[in-house]
Amino acid sequence: MSEKPARTFPLLPMLGHTKGKRSPVTCALKCDNACSGDVCNTSSNSYFRDIASAAMSRRAALGLGAAGALAVVFGGNLATAGQAEAAAADAGLSAAATAGFKDSKLSFTPIKPVDYTVDAFTVPDGFTWRPVIRWGDPLFNDSPDFDLENQSAAAQARQFGYNNDYTDILPVPGSKDRRALLFTNHEYTNENIMFPATLPAAEARAIGRAGHGLSVVELERKNKNKPWNYVKGAPLNRRYLTDTVYELTGPAAGTDLVKTIDDPSGRKIKGTLGNCSGGTTPWGTILSGEENFNGYFVSAGTSESDKRYGLTAKPTARQWELDEPRFDTRNAGYSNESNRFGWIVEVDPFDPTSTPKKHSAMGRFKHEGANVIVAESGHVVAYMGDDERFDYLYKFVSKDTYRSGTAAADRRHNMTLLSEGNLYVAKFAGNSPLAEITGAGVLPSDGAFDGSGEWLPLVVDGASAVPGMTVAEVLVYTRLAADKVGPTKMDRCEDVQPSLHSGKVYVACTNNSDRGKPGKEGATEVNPRTQNRDGHIVEITENGGQASTKFNWTLLLVAGDPAKNASAYFSGFPADKVSPISCPDNVAFDSVGNLWISTDGAPSTIGYNDGLFKVTLEGPERGKVEQFLAVPRDAETCGPVIHDEERTVFVSVQHPGEEGSFAEPHSFFPDYVPAGAAPKVGQVRAPRPSVVQVYRQG
Ligand code: FEO
Ligand code: CA
Ligand code: CA
Ligand code: CA
Repeated sequence: MSEKPARTFPLLPMLGHTKGKRSPVTCALKCDNACSGDVCNTSSNSYFRDIASAAMSRRAALGLGAAGALAVVFGGNLATAGQAEAAAADAGLSAAATAGFKDSKLSFTPIKPVDYTVDAFTVPDGFTWRPVIRWGDPLFNDSPDFDLENQSAAAQARQFGYNNDYTDILPVPGSKDRRALLFTNHEYTNENIMFPATLPAAEARAIGRAGHGLSVVELERKNKNKPWNYVKGAPLNRRYLTDTVYELTGPAAGTDLVKTIDDPSGRKIKGTLGNCSGGTTPWGTILSGEENFNGYFVSAGTSESDKRYGLTAKPTARQWELDEPRFDTRNAGYSNESNRFGWIVEVDPFDPTSTPKKHSAMGRFKHEGANVIVAESGHVVAYMGDDERFDYLYKFVSKDTYRSGTAAADRRHNMTLLSEGNLYVAKFAGNSPLAEITGAGVLPSDGAFDGSGEWLPLVVDGASAVPGMTVAEVLVYTRLAADKVGPTKMDRCEDVQPSLHSGKVYVACTNNSDRGKPGKEGATEVNPRTQNRDGHIVEITENGGQASTKFNWTLLLVAGDPAKNASAYFSGFPADKVSPISCPDNVAFDSVGNLWISTDGAPSTIGYNDGLFKVTLEGPERGKVEQFLAVPRDAETCGPVIHDEERTVFVSVQHPGEEGSFAEPHSFFPDYVPAGAAPKVGQVRAPRPSVVQVYRQG
């Protein structure tokens, strides 16, 4: 518990970026140097979905019929609420598929790629942008204004947190489109650029902790044609901090694997860490994935599970173990503390007094996020990626079925659906020999990347399907359980999201620099590149319904800059007519079913700033990639929300300028205070992660 008087983070790497390599800052602070270790495996946001979720919750709140809500969801495609509900029941919320894909109202001329040294937020001609909310913005009536030079943990706990990632915007019931709820999670903190060197170390650590967690913030606007502003002091505003208590649900709750000296019940967990992407449920709650939780814990590092989850005995980058004994699991009574992280979190943003949950039935791994669709059978299906090189793709199918009723009891029931169900892991098979192996990858002999697959059971009907492991063990040590059943090792599954238009599932495989290296698995048809730098997108079509255990698959994209990389593939669309794209991370859909992809790779991969890209999925232009925006220097694009019918797009800009320092910033986003000018109240001359709205000018 000793501390140094001056702020030091001795475990942070020397700064400085080398093109072609991942940022050392990101490696240390975000992923706990996952790439340098060998954890690795030894064996809508769609507006459509948003409308669905919001309509459901709005109708429920107003006591109106879900059929009416579904009529809202399906718009003019169905004449009556009854037809809409019937279509939804028959098609598992995919009724719009029958209406076909149409052009979106959000037409734009793609921007050109932006060089990785440019500190600017770039949008298409005719569009403009401004932040909805920034790191440090005050949320409550007693919150102080952000003061970069005089930060405190107490202030940060009452302000918007750091490194916003998953984002959604849900209309507030009864507000006539003038109020909405913003949800965002705060994945991690960039201590190297947050604090002046004079800040005492313990206070800096406490500010870092308060910068983590989740935020719910009310937004308002004058009318549908005006941009959104956040509302300080609004009744639904909430910060979830590291001392917020989460209820652990499902079969692992209350077992000896998750008890600690602070929580002998094994059901009450303080805080959520490393939240990455997420999803919004049809019943209007938010899911968020606990991803790189291992980086927050010191552990013995010797057990099979410690090794498999990347838990080591070295001091952590943030050194919270100096402040709270639970962050060193070698301390008496805390051996299970790290088992209490790595879950899918569910939050009810419409109830600021609600207890958030962690769902053990959905397994424990480095969850990128979870996205839900209601199956034809009424069961709820969630798709989930484990974001680590050579790790797996998972699917959860609820035991109980979705209730479309509008009573409060129906929503309460739906909020239990993720607490019990079947858990599967994906195995892919290619259907053609790999005909050509090059340094960059393979080509199937039939010219198309496709094949079949199956969902291998881990837990079915309340019983373990893994020999030698109990249900609780399968759920707490899901990676170890999956290793035993032979799933496919993937290239870092990030967002995995079903289209509510087609039921097809899109898997963003962001990259895998180790594929094909000595001792590592080589290229396969579904992960077709060795040393996969740019990533790819898998498209899954379930066989016989969303809850099926069999599927077919194809590759939608093999990403890259086609001018420099001949292995880039765009479903046959001419490679000279697409925007270069690398490292797909989050995905979303617009109201007519186009896929939108945000990226997390620049500047190291293709020399351009990260961005947001629209991808056409259907028709002759399937595979066409068009860049909509680019984020500033060193930043990653997260949390896309596509309100194309209002010609508005939201993104989270994460870690702008992260390779700079406090004294020498790489970015001045988003305030961009001109040199020599006095900042306005609340503005600073330093980078601030922010949620940004992009909208048509005029
Ligand atoms: Fe936090 Fe998988 O990216
Ligand atoms: Ca991510
Ligand atoms: Ca998504
Ligand atoms: Ca990522």
